[in-house]
Amino acid sequence: MDHSRAPVLEALQDFRRRGDVVFGPPGHKQGRGVDPRVAEVVGLDVFRSDVLTLNGLDDRRESQGVLDRAQELMADAVGADRAFFSTCGSSLSVKTAMLAVAGPGEKLLLSRNAHKSVIAGVVVNGVEPVWVHPKFDAERHMAHPPEPDDVRRKLEEHPDAKGMLLITPTEGGTCADVAGVAEVCHAYGVPLIVDEAWGAHLPFHPDLPVWGIDAGADLVVTSVHKMGGAIEQSSVFHLQYDRVSPEVLKQREDLLGTTSASSLVYATLDGWRRQMVERGRELLDGAMHRAARIRKTVSELPGIAVMGHDEIVGAGLAADLDPLKVVMDVRGLGVSGMQAAEWLRTERRVDVGGSDTCRISASITHADDDETERVLVDALRALVDGAEGMERRPRVRLPEPPALELEQARLPRDAFFGEAEHVAAKDAVGRIAAETISPYPPGVPVVAPGEVINAEVVEYLRSGVEHGMLIPDAADPSLETFRVVARHR
Ligand SMILES: Cc1ncc(COP(=O)(O)O)c(C=O)c1O
Repeated sequence: MDHSRAPVLEALQDFRRRGDVVFGPPGHKQGRGVDPRVAEVVGLDVFRSDVLTLNGLDDRRESQGVLDRAQELMADAVGADRAFFSTCGSSLSVKTAMLAVAGPGEKLLLSRNAHKSVIAGVVVNGVEPVWVHPKFDAERHMAHPPEPDDVRRKLEEHPDAKGMLLITPTEGGTCADVAGVAEVCHAYGVPLIVDEAWGAHLPFHPDLPVWGIDAGADLVVTSVHKMGGAIEQSSVFHLQYDRVSPEVLKQREDLLGTTSASSLVYATLDGWRRQMVERGRELLDGAMHRAARIRKTVSELPGIAVMGHDEIVGAGLAADLDPLKVVMDVRGLGVSGMQAAEWLRTERRVDVGGSDTCRISASITHADDDETERVLVDALRALVDGAEGMERRPRVRLPEPPALELEQARLPRDAFFGEAEHVAAKDAVGRIAAETISPYPPGVPVVAPGEVINAEVVEYLRSGVEHGMLIPDAADPSLETFRVVARHR
């Protein structure tokens, strides 16, 4: 295929060149009506390139096949049978992917270190989750994706399960043995879905961890805005084999997706594919060298421990590590990752990608250059000195790993939609959660609806909030109260 072409970008360029006058959405009419104060901040070009697909990028009957051609090029670029763009982020794509494999009331194996969008999918879609617990790494206080044997055991216990959803890489860059899990799933005749929101770059360099399609997954969802070069909300479904029907996927996507897809998202997805086919290897090569250099320099700083491949990859741990994720444990500085992140933003204008109790993380992409590298390294050097002056906040009381495996007492959907009440934190122990509670980032729920809340988790979350943890999805983000399933008197 001719990868020098970019059908969406070309259609957009033609649209602008022709100067079509539109009497339909968007109402700003390619910027004619935009308030200049808005244009001053976001630029007029954003509005000029904001057009509908029908009677915009393409004609009324989509006879030019603009989007189809762009999607075919994407599939060809990454070696998938089919690719579909979504403009609603992977938060929606994972729900669609789940729905394409298991309908309401059907069972689906789900890795419990899932992003909150997966838990939301369980609630909305009404699938019956069969949780496959990740490996909790007590030393690092992090979860690694489940291994093939964990999946095999669950499939043996639940032969009626319709498939498995694996999350890899995690936000911390740790990767699952996708090939091993795919083999197990296929031996049981079910498809493997991979939530590869953090892995859009993986297909474009052979030295990066293997990506889902190459490892034999059936359906892979990526967020190109995370590690790639398209704008926010850009997500792609990739399909291969015949365990998931493209027709079913499209029809179920249509249940959830927007009817007003963003041409900006499509155009930037199209451009990213062309850029990666033409220069991906060289650009990612540069990014990998840069990340390696940053790792080496930062490893020499006192108090900061950079998570490396050799310590994290092995039996019971991760199967691989994305080298572009520089994950740094800052506990040696006497502060939490959250404090370090706040200090870096306030004092050095550096916004790290992730932060939790123990760590901060920086994603290095093809977009980084010598200047951003220098800024990051200088800021981290300054952090080492600055940490001493930071206030000592109350410690987050991290639970022992088994305490995080909560008992599932109700179906998430029933618990979420059923009658609920608020109880004080101390009274929440032993009660069934009627909400999702996800410290952010990374947005992996500690509590999902239907799970029985235990004392360790309450203590962890409450001490986390006291320390400065953000919990945006809890009904009461202060966690003085918990939303639980009502008791019938
Ligand atoms: C593993 C994982 N899946 C899905 C998502 C949702 O992706 P998006 O932000 O594109 O909606 C995220 C977001 O952080 C994620 O970390």
